[in-house]
Amino acid sequence: MDRRSFIKKSSSFALASSCGASLLVGCQTSPNIKTTLLKTQQNNKIIAHKTVLENDDFAILQATTVKAPIFLHQQKNGKYVALLLSCTHQKCTVSVTPDKLVCPCHGAKFDKQGTVLQGPADKNLLALELSEQGNEIVISLP
Ligand code: FES
Repeated sequence: MDRRSFIKKSSSFALASSCGASLLVGCQTSPNIKTTLLKTQQNNKIIAHKTVLENDDFAILQATTVKAPIFLHQQKNGKYVALLLSCTHQKCTVSVTPDKLVCPCHGAKFDKQGTVLQGPADKNLLALELSEQGNEIVISLP
């Protein structure tokens, strides 16, 4: 992903985060918001079309029934990982930077697979179970 794409996505994510989950639907009307709101299905899953990643390697998803956003990342090997952006230290919402995921509350850092790089968090981000079904990614919610 180039710098311009990242800045565009991350500023949209910051806006979406500041709106809060309960107001997210209202925020979605802004053309700058790139967080994708997905309705939770009856089986406690969300379904994201692969185009949600556009030309980048990640997308921020927001399920209607889960407070924390979800980081959907396509790894270099082509496989996807979905991480709950809820810090394992004290549950602050984790932010996305170009090369890692950073908790703004106490500075914990995670790589894009959710592995702890720096405390105080001592557990990896929650990786959500997912499966690919054609052009869709089905993610199981916690
Ligand atoms: S809540 Fe994330 S480092 Fe404390």
